[in-house]
Amino acid sequence: MEQQNLLSDFATDTLHGLSAIPKFLSSKYFYDDIGSAIFQDIMQMPEYYLTDCEVEIFEKYKQEMVSVIGKSKSKLELIELGAGDGLKTKVLLSQLLEQNIDFKYIPIDISANAVENLHQDLKRNLPELKVEGRIGDYFKLIAELNGSARKVILFLGSNIGNFNPSQSRQFLKQLYNVLNHGDQLLIGFDLKKDSEKILKAYNDPHGHTASFNLNLLNRINNELDADFQLDNFFHTEVYDHETGVAKSYLISKKAQNVHIRKLNKSFLLAPNEKIFMEMSQKYDQQMINSLAVNAGFEVVQNYYDHKSWFVNSLWNVKDS
Ligand code: AVJ
Repeated sequence: MEQQNLLSDFATDTLHGLSAIPKFLSSKYFYDDIGSAIFQDIMQMPEYYLTDCEVEIFEKYKQEMVSVIGKSKSKLELIELGAGDGLKTKVLLSQLLEQNIDFKYIPIDISANAVENLHQDLKRNLPELKVEGRIGDYFKLIAELNGSARKVILFLGSNIGNFNPSQSRQFLKQLYNVLNHGDQLLIGFDLKKDSEKILKAYNDPHGHTASFNLNLLNRINNELDADFQLDNFFHTEVYDHETGVAKSYLISKKAQNVHIRKLNKSFLLAPNEKIFMEMSQKYDQQMINSLAVNAGFEVVQNYYDHKSWFVNSLWNVKDS
């Protein structure tokens, strides 16, 4: 019992997930330094259409977006949740600067590395930008920010898709609770589309997505002193058009035993047994509208790419 108290969240979550039936691990742990680098590779491959679509949207609608989010008398704080490399955001940041909007950019990420790299990059490429990166818990950090500034939250890349429907509702409600009337949210959703396109994005021929998933086993090996043999697993993706749920799994190639020393525990895997790794929800407009309304937001504008594969939806915080 003593030991339980000493376990990190990562250890506790791993214990919980591998003890469950069926087994699961959480994709929120994908982003160690190696995982973040693999995700960069994923975003650059042509099969991962999400990034291209979102860049297209920002390029096409940047002026319109800035005219909506930039108009206010009070100070503006542009806060990005899970900023990563900020590739798409830079389009918007440049536009805000060009239109002489007085604002501060606050990227928030759980990865110190991501925030640091982004900071360096922005200092070089947009030297006049005011940046204040933060590392840690989204809601805590937002609540600590300047109460008098108007806030525009960016939650891009369909990052919300990692949450299941009830987690998404809860996340958006929590966000609503730390925002005020007049604040806004610009949020990216990957839309339902031809199954083949989606499966290719998550089951790529380069093997990046497989590495991305396998890296979590590697992380468990390194951080929790485990003995996962990575080549005893393969990665697979399923997509259900009706629900829009895409799921990633690692599948055990054979009967095997994995020991995790920091948990002082062994886990048996049967041949073909799956470990559920990640959820990437795909949406339709109705789902998006109900997420907004349910959490207390009102949809102001939807921006689509030319194929309507992706949408950036701009929401207002409604007065309660
Ligand atoms: C960063 C959560 C949006 O689900 O599409 C990419 C992560 N996983 N390829 C996604 C991911 C596999 C990505 N998000």
